[in-house]
Amino acid sequence: MPLSNGDLGTSTAQLTPGTSALDFSTALNVLHDEEKDGIDAKTLLDSKVNGGLTYNDFLVLPGYIGFAASEVALDTPVTKRISLKTPLVSSPMDTVTEHSMAIHMALLGGLGVIHHNCSAEDQAEMVRKVKRFENGFILDPVVLSPKTTVSEAKQLKDKWGFGGFPVTENGTLRSKLVGMITTRDIQFHPNLSDPVTTVMSSDLVTAPDGTTLLEANDVLRKSKKGKLPIVDSSHNLISLLSRSDLMKNLHYPLASKLPHSKQLICAAAIGTRPEDKDRLRKLADAGLDIVILDSSQGNSIFQVEMIKHIKANHPDLDVIGGNVVTKSQAASLIAAGVDGLRIGMGSGSACITQEVMAVGRPQAASVFNVSSFAAKFGVPCIADGGIQNVGHIVKGLALGASTVMMGGLLAGTSESPGNYFVSQEGRLVKAYRGMGSIDAMEDKKAGAGDKDRKSGNAGTARYFSEGDRLLVAQGVSGSVLDRGSVTKFVPYLLAGLQHSLQDIGVKSLGELRQEVREGKVRFELRTVSAQAEGNVHGLHSFDKKLYS
Ligand code: IMP
Repeated sequence: MPLSNGDLGTSTAQLTPGTSALDFSTALNVLHDEEKDGIDAKTLLDSKVNGGLTYNDFLVLPGYIGFAASEVALDTPVTKRISLKTPLVSSPMDTVTEHSMAIHMALLGGLGVIHHNCSAEDQAEMVRKVKRFENGFILDPVVLSPKTTVSEAKQLKDKWGFGGFPVTENGTLRSKLVGMITTRDIQFHPNLSDPVTTVMSSDLVTAPDGTTLLEANDVLRKSKKGKLPIVDSSHNLISLLSRSDLMKNLHYPLASKLPHSKQLICAAAIGTRPEDKDRLRKLADAGLDIVILDSSQGNSIFQVEMIKHIKANHPDLDVIGGNVVTKSQAASLIAAGVDGLRIGMGSGSACITQEVMAVGRPQAASVFNVSSFAAKFGVPCIADGGIQNVGHIVKGLALGASTVMMGGLLAGTSESPGNYFVSQEGRLVKAYRGMGSIDAMEDKKAGAGDKDRKSGNAGTARYFSEGDRLLVAQGVSGSVLDRGSVTKFVPYLLAGLQHSLQDIGVKSLGELRQEVREGKVRFELRTVSAQAEGNVHGLHSFDKKLYS
């Protein structure tokens, strides 16, 4: 039967008699906005009608698949000036992000934010480790002097995690290169007090200053050595190239780096106390790229002043403010000059803020409201907290966030700080605690020793002020299940995200944000019974293996 205007609203589409089915484009043409399934994001997140929603309260409706999941592009801005190839960020918590997590998140295309529940020196050292980790030319290599002992070289190996060091006459860069030490040279040497000159090799392959990275890589490949020192015409050490970095470049094509830099992008968190200005100076000297102002309620005079201080004194540093959950909170931080915003209050898995303070907002409502406001000013947003699975990542991004920040989901990986232990039920777990838990705040109070405490260098308060006589917890401490290495887990999250965007019918995160804004990507509320239906149900038992 032919289809006329009357059959499907006011469409001008017609089917010729005899056509057995609507062809695809005709079907799309007859579909008017009011006839489309679902609702747009603005209608969904209208809190006057639907209340404050969070991720589990809605679903994204599927679109049209016209491409492979692997073609979905995940690059996205994290600040006004810096973009990443993937939208995943690890949280600045002392059970989540130290240098190992920051390095691996960056290698995998995301970002790790180093926590500040430690002395400024320790935090700066972690930043330095990230910046040194993967380089083309290592411009500030660790250099030994001929007087350095084998024992000291071993200690440096433990400290930095690598054992190949150049030895120069003065023990500094730009001094005459006399040898190279490798892990193997020092590993079994019986006399630890011998100078490294007794074990170093002085038969060296070097490349002249001015060699391009491509040429140097070639020399390194042919030399079969671990390191290639770059020297000037007087044989002074200028820089170093590392074979393991070559391998890393091969294995981590998405690695987060600034254009024209071979170093990983590094972010770290600080507070807003006056001492944090000194802390920030140390972090900036260590090469920090992005600073996050870590506060559970970021809309404060302290944060506004800190943002202005950073903009005036560290113009090359990008600053992410927060946390915020409302447009008006966001407005004052945007006015102060932030390059990015972090969204979330009370949604974290180890968080009891909403229960104790009665302040906060459901995360979907926060993300949508703040992100859509911030987008008007070109300020990218991080959806922080409450991410329990790939679906939550998709929803945070669909509601306008550029990246998502995870704590609990990454705390069980081998790259988070701390050791695994066996729980009472016999499961392998790692500790995870809110930074506002009594445990974490007491560590802050204890700080990193008296000297640090007096100089204000102990961990910076996110939930606790120096004058507080009584600690009021906003978080709990507990444990999370082992998740293996982020080098497996993060690729799983990213592959899941690509498959989800394919289902939605968008080829990139930018397209997702745009189609949500234009009302083309549609949503539907999820009743409690729909939520039950959407989870495994009716099975006697099951094994939830997420990837292989
Ligand atoms: P998760 O990914 O759901 O575990 O949430 C991580 C986020 O929780 C962090 O990035 C912080 O924003 C937030 N958070 C960390 N510690 C606390 C706390 O003690 N109370 C409330 N929120 C916290």
